[in-house]
Formats: sequence, structure tokens, C-alpha cells
Amino acid sequence: MKFFADTAEIADIRELNDAGLLDGVTTNPSLIHKSGRDFMEVTKEICGIVEGPVSAEVVALDHDTMMKEAEVLRKIADNVCIKVPLTIDGLKTCRALSSDGTMVNVTLCFSANQALLAAKSGATFVSPFVGRHDDNGFDGMDLIRDIRLIYDNYDFRTEILVASVRHAVHVLESARIGADVMTAPPKVIKSLANHVLTDKGIEGFLADWAKTGQSIL
Ligand code: G3P
Repeated sequence: MKFFADTAEIADIRELNDAGLLDGVTTNPSLIHKSGRDFMEVTKEICGIVEGPVSAEVVALDHDTMMKEAEVLRKIADNVCIKVPLTIDGLKTCRALSSDGTMVNVTLCFSANQALLAAKSGATFVSPFVGRHDDNGFDGMDLIRDIRLIYDNYDFRTEILVASVRHAVHVLESARIGADVMTAPPKVIKSLANHVLTDKGIEGFLADWAKTGQSIL
């Protein structure tokens, strides 16, 4: 499963990328706002750090303006992936861009039928939001299971990009189901390294090492 970082924070992106943990980055207008940075500038910087797809989202609601925005965004770098909302205008834009060889991430997906539409429109990625689904009393991971089943039934090539990931169990379940990608905040990705027995093990080894009176350097 590929790991994308759901952030526009450069320091976090560099740290995860240096550890070999990043296959791409996703941003959205809220994350750009949180970063306090200029959209074009920060997107270009991210595209220069990671080799994989970097999602940059259009904000227009109609197809013609979405196309104009996408034209600006795709000039940023070759690894920009245009993010469009799961609406009919978004799907029309997805079709036009993907026919032209541009990567497209169809976002704000909350049903398997919506994911079916994204695949039919030729999306590179579809982004089902599991955390927001859970927030509303539905099981977000059931949605991922349904989409996996449907995409496999028809051999759709659109990649399932699990989004709105809030914790380690979302990541584990995504991998069990066979999602293609998951995007999570850096703190969730880093939390996957945590284990109390790892900490205890280090503590024990270091205590015994101190007793030897030796040093490596
Ligand atoms: O990947 C989409 C994400 O940014 C939304 O996450 O936690 O605001 O639902 P959240």
C-alpha cells in the first residue's frame, strides 16, 4: 500500500520522505490555509521534494472554470495530480484531464456508487473519506470494502486512496482490505512506529550496555 502524507507542512514532508515513507502528498484548501503559505509556491516546493503524485485541488464548481484552474495547476510540475470534487462537473473535468494524460484525484467520495462514477470517468485516484464517514455513524472501512469489491469485479484501474484517515487502525484496515493508497496526517504515519515493547526493549538493552562500560564511538 502506498503512503501519501495529507499535509502542506514542508518539514513533515521532508522528514517522512527522508525515511523512505512517502509515495506522494495530498493537499486541500483547508490544509493550504492551515500552512499559511501561498498555494502555488508551497505546491511547487512539495513537488520538488517528493517524486510521486502531489494532489492540488481546484476550487471552482463549474467544469469550464475547473479546466482553467487545472491548466494553471498542472504547469506547476509533472507530478501534480489535479483534485476535483465528486460532482458531475468534477467528473466531466476528470474525464477531460485524464484523456489528456493528466493524473486526477476525485475527492469527497462518500458512497460506492460515487466511486463507480469516478472509475468510469477515468480517475487515477478516488478518495473516500473514512474518518468523516465514521463521524456520521457509518463504518468508513465498509465503504472501502465495497469499493474494492466493485473495482475488482470490473477490473477498474482507478486506485482507491483512503482519505480522512485519523488513526493507526484505519491504516491497518486499509492494508487488510487491499486499498491501493492511504493518505494520513504525518502524526498518524509516525505513530505507526510506536510500540510499548519497542520502548521497553531499548530501555533494557541500554541499561545492560551501560553496565559493560563500553562505547561504540
Ligand atoms: O484527506 C482528506 C482529509 O484532509 C480530510 O480529513 O480529518 O478533515 O476529515 P479530515
